[in-house]
Amino acid sequence: MRTQVAIVGAGPAGLVLGHLLHERGLEAVVLEARDREYVERRVRAGVLEQATVDLLAECGVDERLRREGLVHHGLELRFDGAGHRIDLSGLTGGRAITVYGQQEVVKDLIAARLAFGGPLHFEASDVRVEGLESGRPSVRYLHAGAEQRLEADVVAGCDGFHGVCRPAIPDGVLRIYEHVHPFAWLGILVAEPPPSDELVYCHHERGFALVSLRSPEVTRLYLQVPPDEELEAWPDERIWEELNLRLATEAGCSLQPGPIFERGITPMRSYVTEPMRCGRLFLAGDAAHIVPPTGAKGLNLAVADVRVLADALTHFYATGEESLLDAYSDTCLRRVWRVQQFSWWMTSMLHRFPGDDEFALRLQRSQLDYTVSSHAASTTLAENYVGMPHPQTLPAAAGERVA
Ligand code: FAD
Ligand code: PHB
Repeated sequence: MRTQVAIVGAGPAGLVLGHLLHERGLEAVVLEARDREYVERRVRAGVLEQATVDLLAECGVDERLRREGLVHHGLELRFDGAGHRIDLSGLTGGRAITVYGQQEVVKDLIAARLAFGGPLHFEASDVRVEGLESGRPSVRYLHAGAEQRLEADVVAGCDGFHGVCRPAIPDGVLRIYEHVHPFAWLGILVAEPPPSDELVYCHHERGFALVSLRSPEVTRLYLQVPPDEELEAWPDERIWEELNLRLATEAGCSLQPGPIFERGITPMRSYVTEPMRCGRLFLAGDAAHIVPPTGAKGLNLAVADVRVLADALTHFYATGEESLLDAYSDTCLRRVWRVQQFSWWMTSMLHRFPGDDEFALRLQRSQLDYTVSSHAASTTLAENYVGMPHPQTLPAAAGERVA
């Protein structure tokens, strides 16, 4: 088999890339290790930046998102028992975020890809990337019991943090920057209307808590827990008790316990691979970088990467020129480090760190107080949270279909 672009991984990065290439008349084959049901059920992100929503609209996969996505114009920072609203839209010239589950984005993208007959192979096992140095890469894999070989001009490694593409790169090519945070998040989904209209990021001396949502009927809640915590340590009563302690306000906010139908623990990591490329293999999304979820950025960063990659490939096939492919890594890394810094800042401001003393707590409270009371500081939070605009790399005339 032969294609122009072999895409490994059908998460947000791989699926959005497949769509952008299709829109521009380019061929791609998407290979996914898991089955469709598993991929569509995996509960992860929930916050889409304005630029992510705009890009999904450009791909023509925003019909359900427009109907069911919840547009939010602000968020709350809660500390010392009081809430403070950050007016995201007022501070950013009208930009907003949209709350819409990652698995809903993935479902929409899969349905749209299958509708146009785009090749998407689930349960592709034992995927191996070969020929990286030769400039003629190929991907071998097992599918429906048979060994397959897919030749491509380019391989897009969109297979997440635990995928095979990054480890296929020879030793000495990549430089890794990494930090493992000394806590994790316990996340639950609850069949109960959200207790507030906007997301609540809460600093408390017992640890961080977050109130989010998936729909007017479903609440998403997170608690900071120790890094090696087991789910068994958190029976329902303990979860509700802890959430109520951390989220309590002087105005007497209390959370209504409801049926918990999903729960999981996520470790927290900051990670960057440089460069995001080896020969004709390009890494995108979590395959290249991880941010702690406090800034709600991972999915959005994955989408920003593949937009840059799709533009570079469009230019390459239209002109034969590799300049944008050569610039891919540097173009993406500029945004990656901005997002790393923002996610780090939010994480440091809102979590309790093991061994922190009263002094550290006072510094965090001062930072929070400054963030909600200074126009400059709240604007910094708002513009990073709604997301910086995507870089425009494609020369104006080259945005057209190439085939
Ligand atoms: P993935 O979603 O990991 O997709 C990779 C795909 O590749 C998967 O389908 C996987 O099965 C497949 N794969 C892996 N190995 C192979 C292989 N060998 N062969 C073939 N296929 C393979 N981000 C936000 O922007 N906002 C948020 O609010 C947010 N909240 C989060 C909350 C939690 C609890 C977690 C865990 C993450 C959150 N994130 C958030 C991060 C976000 O979910 C990820 O950054 C995003 O999924 C990255 O997309 P991706 O396509 O790069 O990788
Ligand atoms: C979510 O709704 O899952 C969510 C929201 C905001 C975050 C992280 C996760 O910062």
